[in-house]
Amino acid sequence: METITQQIKQNRDFCKSPFGEQREPSDQQKHLPQPPLSKPARSDKRIALSRDFREVLTQPDFLTILQQRASQRFYQDRPMTLEQLAFLLWATQGVKALRGNHYATLRTVPSGGARHAFETYLAVRLVEGLEPGVYHYLPLEHALEPVGPLEDPAGQIIAAMHGQKWAGGCAVAFLYSFVPYRAEWRYGTSAHRVALIDAGHVGQNLYLACEAIGCGACAVAAIDQPVADRLCQLDGQEEFILYAAAVGLSDPEKNQAGNQQLYAGTIAESDAIAPLEK
Ligand SMILES: Cc1cc2nc3c(=O)[nH]c(=O)nc-3n(C[C@H](O)[C@H](O)[C@H](O)COP(=O)(O)O)c2cc1C
Repeated sequence: METITQQIKQNRDFCKSPFGEQREPSDQQKHLPQPPLSKPARSDKRIALSRDFREVLTQPDFLTILQQRASQRFYQDRPMTLEQLAFLLWATQGVKALRGNHYATLRTVPSGGARHAFETYLAVRLVEGLEPGVYHYLPLEHALEPVGPLEDPAGQIIAAMHGQKWAGGCAVAFLYSFVPYRAEWRYGTSAHRVALIDAGHVGQNLYLACEAIGCGACAVAAIDQPVADRLCQLDGQEEFILYAAAVGLSDPEKNQAGNQQLYAGTIAESDAIAPLEK
């Protein structure tokens, strides 16, 4: 049995760069065929998404966006619009161009070697024009495809977020899967650490894009792996959920009160959050 100390050492080593080490050639170096740039659609059903975001953007000032960005866990109990959702999908995984002969996608986020080894799934609770359900984003088409219905969206989102009850009030949960081979094909054993770094860029774009359209997000690393994978109908090996976020329409007062209550047991009065002086 591995001790916790051994496991921690292993995990720390995993965080270190393996790029200088002698490795076997990757599948790309062996000239094996490249995997698809994004996961093929499961069916012909499509929900078209707008690319015209002019009406959606409510906060164009970048300094304000940076200053205001904060994790929002409590939202208005009203639906988001499909246009707002379309903007968030484009801002986090939208494809702007193809590099080379279908060698890579160039997206609104960076990715080591432009591998972009993520897929986006949505657990929708409150979005105008969408039935509650799980959807999959098709970044090359900028469209959604339905994956399956959700009978109890709040309950199923909470379960996927490892029982975090506040998440049941979100309008939509973003669930980002990792498709390891898309990155391993190029980077072999170096792929996984890079993918974790990539995920941070996706999360930050989601936070900032939400601020720009009057929405709020809270990143979620504490997912229940099998539950989240099952929700998105993933096999858990060749594709599994890596990262998630809850999103809804901003309600600053409700969020402040909710966050205060959430942290009441953990933050001593003297440690309470105070803005830094300018
Ligand atoms: C990678 C990552 C994972 C997180 N996971 C959770 C989570 O599972 N549950 C939660 O309530 N907040 C989660 N958060 C939000 C953090 O608690 C939050 O960013 C932190 O308290 C700082 O607050 P701020 O985002 O308002 O600046 C996560 C944030 C990041 C970046």
